[in-house]
Amino acid sequence: QELQMNLEQIEKNGYDHFMLKEIYEQPNVIKDTYRGRLHTDTGMIKMAGVEDNLQKFLNANRILIVACGTSWHAGLVAEYIFEEFARIPVEVEYASEFRYRNPIINKDDVVIAISQSGETADTLAAIKMAKENGAFVFGVCNVVGSSISRETHAGAYTHAGPEIGVASTKAFTTQITVLTLIALRLANAKGTLTKSDYFRYLQEMELIPQKVEEALQTNDVAQKVAAAYKDASNCLYLGRGYNFPVALEGALKLKEISYIHAEGYPAAEMKHGPIALIDEQMPVVVVAPKQEHYDKIVSNIQEIKSRSGKIIAVVTKGDTQVKDLADHVIEIPEVSDALSPLVTTIPLQLLSYHIAVMRGCNVDQPRNLAKSVTVE
Ligand code: AGP
Repeated sequence: QELQMNLEQIEKNGYDHFMLKEIYEQPNVIKDTYRGRLHTDTGMIKMAGVEDNLQKFLNANRILIVACGTSWHAGLVAEYIFEEFARIPVEVEYASEFRYRNPIINKDDVVIAISQSGETADTLAAIKMAKENGAFVFGVCNVVGSSISRETHAGAYTHAGPEIGVASTKAFTTQITVLTLIALRLANAKGTLTKSDYFRYLQEMELIPQKVEEALQTNDVAQKVAAAYKDASNCLYLGRGYNFPVALEGALKLKEISYIHAEGYPAAEMKHGPIALIDEQMPVVVVAPKQEHYDKIVSNIQEIKSRSGKIIAVVTKGDTQVKDLADHVIEIPEVSDALSPLVTTIPLQLLSYHIAVMRGCNVDQPRNLAKSVTVE
């Protein structure tokens, strides 16, 4: 028992929970994930699984992404990135829905399956079905030799290292890293990004670990905000554009480790119903970095404020407009829209972690949950 305790302590590297250790590993594992693949000097992106199948990607009429949970949220971020960078239509499907709804799968479809564990039954079944229909299936997994990595025609591993906490954190950011590199490779091949934009994104990707490092400095603020809202029974997460999937992911984190009911919404969707929920008992987390349509999210925040909602805003360092409206702000470094999910998600991971700890929840093994859902 004593030895087991010590072993665990060593494995946690001094952190109280695996989840916190894995949140803090993100700068390094993002670097490990693009190392050897991202070459900002030559402008090359080298991923064998993509190079060997480049024509299939370039000829694809559309890309279908199948995944579950947090990996599905990474797929939503990828949809925005692939469509903006490479102008290839992308559809993101819950693997569990896709496998049962008799979907249309064409031979020139490219399917990307995203799975940290590489063992998720629904995702594995969706892959088998796509292959039976002649589609090319590419896997993004974190476990070498996992079932999904063996079942797919080709793939690219995230190099996040073992993710022990049931709540996925570093897998999410390394999945987005891999998917962004693929989108940039395709954009460069298709010429759908100007050379200068292409190089600018390469250089920014190389700086992401530093920006994530900086975002991790918000831990103390996140802890203070957590103390103010740990007893909430509901919470809304709002975001626009690239940060809409981040809002969904932030809500999932809070749900699964603190058992507080939380849901993510596109910020502009509030007026189509959910704004009826707003009162002083409803904390609203708004992901509002300086991004395209920033002014629109400011007005969404004003709408919430006028209904006495409590606002926790993730903003770009130096922001004043949202700062004047929000009850709490968490400041992150400047980052381009397309790469912002890699940074905006960090404070949300920390916020849900601290709330769960303050509620005495079992952060690494939340009730009713398994790390990999290998059954239907
Ligand atoms: C995320 O925090 C959850 N643990 C869960 O939603 C997870 O993302 C989902 O089960 C998919 O797992 P996979 O990435 O291993 O396929």
